[in-house]
Formats: sequence, structure tokens, C-alpha cells
Amino acid sequence: MLKNLKSLLDEAKENSYAIGSYSCYNYETIRGAIEAIKKLKVPGIIALGENYLNNINPEEFVDIVKSLEKIGEDVPIAIHLDHCKSIDHIVQAIQAGFTSVMYDGSDLDFVENIMKTKKVVDIAHAANVSVEAELGSLALGEFSNEEGAEQIYTDPEQAKQFIEETGVDALAVSIGTVHGMYKGVPKVNVNVLKKINEKVGDTPLVLHGGSGTPEDVIKECIKNGITKINVNTEISVNVVNQIRDKLAKEEKYHFSKVSLLAKEAVKEVVLKYSQLFYSVRS
Ligand code: 13P
Repeated sequence: MLKNLKSLLDEAKENSYAIGSYSCYNYETIRGAIEAIKKLKVPGIIALGENYLNNINPEEFVDIVKSLEKIGEDVPIAIHLDHCKSIDHIVQAIQAGFTSVMYDGSDLDFVENIMKTKKVVDIAHAANVSVEAELGSLALGEFSNEEGAEQIYTDPEQAKQFIEETGVDALAVSIGTVHGMYKGVPKVNVNVLKKINEKVGDTPLVLHGGSGTPEDVIKECIKNGITKINVNTEISVNVVNQIRDKLAKEEKYHFSKVSLLAKEAVKEVVLKYSQLFYSVRS
């Protein structure tokens, strides 16, 4: 069943678990992710990043999610627009039927980020669509095609003020995860997260850069207010590696089989993370 993101995250925060938000951009990624969450009977977020609008448009995306979510087990699903900087794209996604949007003003100065985010909140809430925003910035790891800059930790005091002034439903924080696979040992600072969580009360917090984050770190983050965890790169790495291995072994391989292999490789990663995120439920 399609759900507004806020309702899913509020329940996750209350029961101390997190919901996986999986980057999807074609039939194989959407189907693999939906099959995994239905198999586990857990809620899930099917996300389309603004940088994948060349792969699929919001209307096609919603149509595929809607047709696949009806098959089999009924689990709560949110359709989310990830990392979007254009208000026109946000409006397009809302009109297409997304139940949640992320406005990414993290590269703006604090006051401008508040102003633009507030504008998005007004537009989205009028259509009963949830809004995520971001404060701070993540560094870039390996194999990512998302944006990444210098690591700037989220300031707990600013997080509180930002939420009060914008009315966002969820806040993405920067605490040391990276967009992409880690180049060395992950240095996630859970103390910064604890301080943010103390300041923001019930507001659900979002962890970007889920790929490759160690299990114990993820569990610690969920205990301290993280209720949505984004995963992109590891899905792509698994698909590409499996296709590469297969093609290295088999010369005559039909594209229809590549498609099924890709779907299964997506499913593997989504099963791993969704199981982990839900396992800590209290
Ligand atoms: P990873 O690519 O590191 O999993 O990060 C995904 C993400 O944060 C998407 O918004």
C-alpha cells in the first residue's frame, strides 16, 4: 500500500527501527527492491534521485511502482524523490504521485536553505506529500555517481532551528558516512548524532551513504534516532559485478537473462539491508 513517508517514519522512530530507502531508476531496480521488502514483510522506500531523471521520468516511475506493489504481500511503500535541487522537478514528482520528496539545499547557506526548504514544505504539504531536507554535507566515496563534497558535520543547534523554521518531516544529517563505498575505515561519529537527536525530539533523522556502513554502526545510529537509511552504490556495485562475472564466463548470454540477473542482484542487497534495519525493532 502506498504511504506518506512521514507516517512510516513516525512509526519507525516510535519503535526504534529504520526503513531502507533504495535508489531505483529502471524496472530491474524497482522490481528487485519491491520483491525484497515484500519477502521480508517490512516497509520500504522506493527512491528516484533527481540525477536519474534521464533514465526514467517520474510518471513512468510511479506507474511501475504502483503496478508492482499490488502483487503479493501488502507492505507499506513510499515513493520518494531523492536529492532534488529543482523546485520544478519537485512539483512534477508530486503531480506524478510521489508520496515524499527531498529538497537538497545542503550547498546553500543556512538562511537560504531554510527559505527554499520552507517553500517546498508549503507546496508538498498542501498535497499531503512529506518533505526531507539536509543540513551539512557528505564526502564522496568510491563508485558513487552522487554528489559529494567536503565532509561537514551537521550542527545540532542549527538542526533544531532548521526543523522549527521549515516544518520538514525528516532531516538528513551528516555524521561521517559517505556517498559511495568507503575508501578506508568508516569514521562515523555517533556522538554528533546523539547531540542532534537530543535537540530535535521526535523528528525522524535520515542517514545518507548507507552502502558499506558496518552493521554495528548502523545499529548504533538507529538507536540514536536514524529512521531512514539510503542505499544506492552497493546495489549498483553488486549488479555490475554479477553481470561482469557472468559475461566473462558465458559468451552467448541473452539480454533477458541479464535483466533477471540484475533484478536478483538488487534484491540481494535490499534483503540484507532491510533485514538489518528492521532487526533492531523494539
Ligand atoms: P550510498 O550510495 O553510499 O549508498 O548513498 C546513497 C544515498 O545516500 C542516496 O541519497
